[in-house]
Amino acid sequence: MKIKGIEELHFGVEDMEQACRFLSDFGLKADNSAVQDAKLYRTLNQSRLYLYDKGDRRLPNAFEAGSTLRTLVWGVEQASDLDALTERLVDVQGYARDADSVSCLDPNGMYLRFQLSTQVPVELTVPGINQHGDIRRVDAPSPVYERGEPIGIGHAVFFVEDLDAVEAFYHEKLGFQVSDRYIGKGVFMRAGTEGHHHDLFLLKVPNKPAGLNHVAFTVRDIHEVIGGGMAMNRKDWSTFIGPGRHPISSAYFWYVNSPLGGAFEYYTNDDYLTAAWQPRTLEHRLELFTEWAVEGGLDGNTRRQVVTQLA
Ligand SMILES: [Fe+2]
Repeated sequence: MKIKGIEELHFGVEDMEQACRFLSDFGLKADNSAVQDAKLYRTLNQSRLYLYDKGDRRLPNAFEAGSTLRTLVWGVEQASDLDALTERLVDVQGYARDADSVSCLDPNGMYLRFQLSTQVPVELTVPGINQHGDIRRVDAPSPVYERGEPIGIGHAVFFVEDLDAVEAFYHEKLGFQVSDRYIGKGVFMRAGTEGHHHDLFLLKVPNKPAGLNHVAFTVRDIHEVIGGGMAMNRKDWSTFIGPGRHPISSAYFWYVNSPLGGAFEYYTNDDYLTAAWQPRTLEHRLELFTEWAVEGGLDGNTRRQVVTQLA
C-alpha cells in the first residue's frame, strides 16, 4: 500500500471572500469548475484546496470552532491501495467506502479520505546554489521572486490531545513512519519509508485542544520562500513566524497567519529520508524548533537599509 501524500484540503470558512483573496495572494490558482457554492484552488502539481461555507452541510463536523480544515484527503497510487485501506480501516470510527474512496475519522477528530492521486509531475527550472566544492550555477544570476507559487501540499500539522493514540493510528493503520520525535511533545511522520521528512506533524501542547496548527506548501527554493513571504506581508497578510530555518527537517520556512484557520507555510530544502534513517528522540527546546527566525516577518520595508543611512 502506498500513500503518496496530501491530495486535497477541504476548509470550512467564515469569510469566503477573504479566504479566496488569501489563497490567490498566496499563489494558488483559482479553478472555476468547483462544485456548487464551493471554491477550488490548485497548486502547480494539481493538488487541490476546496473552500466551503463553514455551515455547509456537505462538510463533516469540525474538530474546532471557527474557520478550519474539515477534510484531509490523502492520495494513493493505485486502486488496490483502496482495497488494502478498506481492510485496515473497516473497524475505525467513521469508516465509509464508495467506488472511488475510503474515509474515516482519525483519533483526533479529523475526517480523512483516501482516493487515487491525480497529481502531476512538475517540471521547473530551479537555478542551483553555489556552495564550496559544488558549483551548480554558472554564468547565471540567482532568482528573485515577486511572489510565491506553491508546487504542492507538503504536510499538515495538528494539535493533538492524545499523542500516543494518534501516532499509533497513523503508524499501525496507515503505515506512516516516525522520522523524529520530541519526547511527549510531538511526532514527525512520513507516509512512506522513503520520502520527505514529514507529511504529518502531531503536536501536543498543554491545555490545547485538538485543532489545526498549519498546512505547508512546497516552493522551488529559499528565494521563493522569502519572495513569497514578503509578497504576503506587502499585501497586509500577517506573518506568524518567518523567514527562518528548522534544525529538525532542515527546512527554510515562512508561516503566514491564515483566515482559513491556522497558518499557511512556504517551505523548501527539507530532508529526504529512506529506510536507513534513524529517527531521533529529542527534548523539545526552542532552539530545536528554529535555529533562527524572524517574528513578524519582513515586508520589503521593515528593517530595510535606507539611503540616508549610507550618507
Ligand atoms: Fe511545517
